[in-house]
Amino acid sequence: MDQKRTPLFDALRDHARRNPLSFHVPGHKNGTIYTGEARDWFEKLLNIDLTELPGLDDLHQPEGVIKEAQKLTASFYQADHTFFLVGGSTSGNLAMIFAICQPGDTVIVQRNSHKSIMHALELAGAHPVFLTPLYSKQTGRLSEITLHQLKEALEQYPEAKGVVLTYPDYFGHTYPLKKLIETAHDHHIPVIVDEAHGAHFVLGNPFPTSALELGADIVVQSAHKMLPAMTMTAWLHLRSELIAYERVSRYVHMFQSSSPSYPLMASLDLARYYLANLSRKQIHEIIQSVKGVRAMFKMLPYWEVLPCEAHVDDMLKIIVQVKEGYQARDIARALERNGIYPEMVTDDQILFIFGLSPYTEMQVLEKALERLDPEKTDNSIKLTQAEMKPIQDLAISYDQMRKMKTEWVVWDKAVGRITAESVTPYPPGIPYLLKGERINKEHVKTLQQYIGQNQYIQYARDRLKEGIYVFKQE
Ligand SMILES: Cc1ncc(COP(=O)(O)O)c(C=O)c1O
Repeated sequence: MDQKRTPLFDALRDHARRNPLSFHVPGHKNGTIYTGEARDWFEKLLNIDLTELPGLDDLHQPEGVIKEAQKLTASFYQADHTFFLVGGSTSGNLAMIFAICQPGDTVIVQRNSHKSIMHALELAGAHPVFLTPLYSKQTGRLSEITLHQLKEALEQYPEAKGVVLTYPDYFGHTYPLKKLIETAHDHHIPVIVDEAHGAHFVLGNPFPTSALELGADIVVQSAHKMLPAMTMTAWLHLRSELIAYERVSRYVHMFQSSSPSYPLMASLDLARYYLANLSRKQIHEIIQSVKGVRAMFKMLPYWEVLPCEAHVDDMLKIIVQVKEGYQARDIARALERNGIYPEMVTDDQILFIFGLSPYTEMQVLEKALERLDPEKTDNSIKLTQAEMKPIQDLAISYDQMRKMKTEWVVWDKAVGRITAESVTPYPPGIPYLLKGERINKEHVKTLQQYIGQNQYIQYARDRLKEGIYVFKQE
């Protein structure tokens, strides 16, 4: 297919150029009615913030420009079908979980999955079996699901209806996925992958191989994370002999707005165009420019720049490990004071993400880095890694949870009880204690450390400082 085409964007632009009279939604009438000075900021975009008009197709029944834009994307990614998503990977993750399981079905899931996967499992009434990734000394994080783990899980749960993996992790690190996929396929079990951070892996060398190329059945990617695309844009690719198109399509539509944003969909069309038309030379220049920043970062005394291995790590990411005597958060604040905003800060690492164009602000960056003045603190507490079983079931089913009452208990009384609400420290933004998981001593200790360090913890209930909500014992 002709990857120079941008059918959806072209249709919107052409419509806007005709200065049409709007007697349809949305109520801003092509941007002519808007609030105060915000109109100046929004105006251009509002001109193409259209609706399902003749020639603009319909995401929920694509027959024209949206169909073509999706086909171009599928062709570029070598998927059988690509679905545009305007609710981020979140909506794709919901759809892919529903596509593989019925209530009560066993699903093998990477334990450090994004909360959208956890929500999907709960909503679908699945029976999740969690695989805890191995702690990697090299990355300082829970990074890798092993073949041994998966084989053991498949032996224990041969009835599993699917394997749900996340690849790469938030930091762009990957693990040997091909063997995992082949093993699941040997059991006729589909593998669905949350590749939210890897939409650009399709570019090939020196990026890791994309999950779709490695044989995954469904792959969900946030275009907005690593591609030049607007926030909330994502897509779902399907290439499977084990999952029916109709099932995926049904849920993709159920989890999306009936009025999907045209600027977002056009942004997907343009992001695919951008990727598909990057030359090897341009990719090389991008990588070289990031290497330049790495070299600059290496000169600073506050941190160590972690190695980045081609084909394993995402070369568009730089991770620094903060040295003893400094707090990552203090350094991040110092960076922000100087106009530098990293993507993520953990207790001891900072993640910087680059875009798909050579980095051009070297001098500005260098000057800003020279002005850095992070506080020195000798009290940097290292968070301990909690003990987690390599393969873990929830203590009770989601169906049982739905019917049970909850109560709040102080931390001293929490051990042995079942968590009524997931506890997700940010960063790293993954549920540390899952709803339905039995609380052990290690959980309490680690969570109290997080709390003691004033770490932001996402928790849908209150009073986490002193205790936790658990299911009532009848
Ligand atoms: C691994 C992973 N999956 C899914 C998501 C959700 O993606 P989105 O923000 O596109 O809905 C995120 C967001 O941070 C993520 O990190």
